[in-house]
Amino acid sequence: AMDALEPYGMKAETFEYHYGKHHKAYVDNLNKLVEGTDLANKSLEEVIKASFGDPSKAGIFNNSAQVWNHTFFWNSLKPGGGGAPTGDLAAKIDAAFGSYDKFREEFSNAAATQFGSGWAWLVSDNGTLKITKTPNAENPLAHGQTALLTLDVWEHAYYIDFRNARPAFIQNFLDKLVNWDFVASNLAAA
Ligand code: FE2
Repeated sequence: AMDALEPYGMKAETFEYHYGKHHKAYVDNLNKLVEGTDLANKSLEEVIKASFGDPSKAGIFNNSAQVWNHTFFWNSLKPGGGGAPTGDLAAKIDAAFGSYDKFREEFSNAAATQFGSGWAWLVSDNGTLKITKTPNAENPLAHGQTALLTLDVWEHAYYIDFRNARPAFIQNFLDKLVNWDFVASNLAAA
């Protein structure tokens, strides 16, 4: 439901715009761009990998990666999520970053310091957990890494709920929204 995350800091209006307009525009643009080309019947992941770094396919990369990134972002959210993970995942976060608090500090810092539009990520890079940030549509897939968790830090992601306060949006995500079950399933499949 569009209002499912209202008690957790994300208004229905955010989903009406971010999902209903921004995400939809990337899907519509991509479908138009690949129509009649050899990419039309490829998987989204194949389109992203085939177009990354090719200036003649910049529009296809930007729109395909943004479709994938947004789907991944919606799955990174759940009502009443956030806080520290538990079990095996907690042990892996502690092993990689020292503690949940250190993870949180590093992830917040990546999300806050991505200048302009982009994304903050928790990734598995050849089995090593890392925090990264990417500009615009760029994502871990393009860099051969496995995405585990993401936060959209484009201004359109937080302006309705938090206006210009990106740090408040980041805190809210970490405290109330992170879907650790999704992270654990991505890690198990990595
Ligand atoms: Fe977005």
